[in-house]
Amino acid sequence: MTKENFYQRIGGEETFEQLVSHFYALVSLDPILRPMYPEDDLHGAAERLMLFLMQYWGGPHTYSEMRGHPRLRMRHAQFPIDSKARDAWLRCMKSAVTELEISESDREELWNYLEMAAQSLVNMADE
Ligand code: HEM
Repeated sequence: MTKENFYQRIGGEETFEQLVSHFYALVSLDPILRPMYPEDDLHGAAERLMLFLMQYWGGPHTYSEMRGHPRLRMRHAQFPIDSKARDAWLRCMKSAVTELEISESDREELWNYLEMAAQSLVNMADE
């Protein structure tokens, strides 16, 4: 018998879809984040983040098939991410993670990763 991985345990694609669509609904209203994202392609951005997270947590590798190696530091270098932008991103994500119907230990694991990953993408000192 094979052990269920995190991706499967929290509900697979459907759960990641919920997470990311809630997150981007908030990004679209956020004065710091919205201008950083492509004006007419928030849907494409949502898809890229969803596929990345699915792959990271043990789901299909569609992200890398479409986009190649993630290289997240490099892909974020063009955006000015200071602590305010990081906190805005994490605020939107916190709300999306809180809404998921998953166990508290899975929620904590997911959140700890997102917090660490967001910190690792800060690329600008505060003013
Ligand atoms: C720290 C705050 C962050 C900000 C301000 C930020 C901002 C952005 C922006 C503006 C884009 C371009 C949207 C697009 O795909 O067209 C993007 C892409 C992306 N972000 Fe972030 N991001 C942050 C943190 C994160 C974190 C923590 C992760 C992963 C856990 C992540 C994963 C991604 C991925 C996978 C893409 C698409 C890359 C690609 O294939 O081109 N981001 N981000």
